Amino acid sequence: MSSVSITIEGLEKIYRSGKRSEPEIHALKPLWLDIQPGEVFGLLGPNGAGKTTLVKLLLGIVSPSSGSAQIEGRRIGTTSSKEIVGYLPESHRYPLYLTGRGVLDYFGHLSGLDTPAIRRRGDVLLEQLNMTKWKGTKVKKYSKGMMQRLGLAQALLNDPRVIFLDEPTDGVDPVGRKEIRDLIGGLRAEGKTIFLNSHLLSEVELISDRVAILNKGELVRIGTVKELTESSNHYRVEVAEEQAPAFAAAIARFTPRDLLPNGATIMAADLRALNEVIDHLRSQGLLIVSVNPVRQTLENLFMDIVQGGAR
Ligand SMILES: Nc1ncnc2c1ncn2[C@@H]1O[C@H](COP(=O)(O)OP(=O)(O)OP(=O)(O)O)[C@@H](O)[C@H]1O
Ligand SMILES: [Mg+2]
Repeated sequence: MSSVSITIEGLEKIYRSGKRSEPEIHALKPLWLDIQPGEVFGLLGPNGAGKTTLVKLLLGIVSPSSGSAQIEGRRIGTTSSKEIVGYLPESHRYPLYLTGRGVLDYFGHLSGLDTPAIRRRGDVLLEQLNMTKWKGTKVKKYSKGMMQRLGLAQALLNDPRVIFLDEPTDGVDPVGRKEIRDLIGGLRAEGKTIFLNSHLLSEVELISDRVAILNKGELVRIGTVKELTESSNHYRVEVAEEQAPAFAAAIARFTPRDLLPNGATIMAADLRALNEVIDHLRSQGLLIVSVNPVRQTLENLFMDIVQGGAR
């Protein structure tokens, strides 16, 4: 077994329709990335960033325009790499006439399991996902959240070592999301490697060992949540209580965040820029009470990147 769970070397995808009238879409720019065994890796990015494309490349569902990747040393797209993965596709659809159990039977047989094995493992998974009472019901009666839970059970049926989850909590209510988080926590404890796509920042923040932010097909940030949010260049500035009106007028030019009558969070690229803000406030007669660096939230970092602010 390789010492790295997923090795990605210059993987790139350009979608070409073949029609001259339609532009090429550079869905994934050349990407180098290693994902460690047992890691929960969260991939964030706005709609169309290329998250699903990356997962489909790794699963061999679409073929790369260039570059290569291995899952536990097995080249992507090969049968041997597919044997060890589980996949919850984005907005999956199951035949509506099947029951939940029927769906698991169908996909379980596709991955080479026999009926007793499917039942044994399927029942445990459905129980963990609070779906036991629905397993005999046709999926056409399922809510979005129930479909998602069934999809998870299906993805885990063959006891995969590496699991790809594309928007696993899409359409799931907060209670269900917590159950799914707990399930992912359990999988991590079993040593599974988990690759998670989501645009739910709080979700990813809570469960990922490392996160990456993809924007327009390009990897723009990678690290632990702590690393990404630590050095933010954001500062909380507070002035004396009674100076509120003057403060609002003076701070406005620095695009303040979280504005209160006597405090605001501003971004300053370096110490010189920060001192220029302070100089300006003082030149307006304001008395500064405190200036403190603030940790960026993942959401603010994400917004800055996606809107082109912090690059
Ligand atoms: N089969 C395809 N043919 C042509 N273009 C495609 C195809 N699949 C995806 N794309 C394009 O590639 C880009 C990346 O899409 P992708 O589905 O990977 O994004 P995503 O990050 O998963 O977005 P979302 O958050 O909406 O799921 C988009 O511009 C999309 O339109
Ligand atoms: Mg997607």
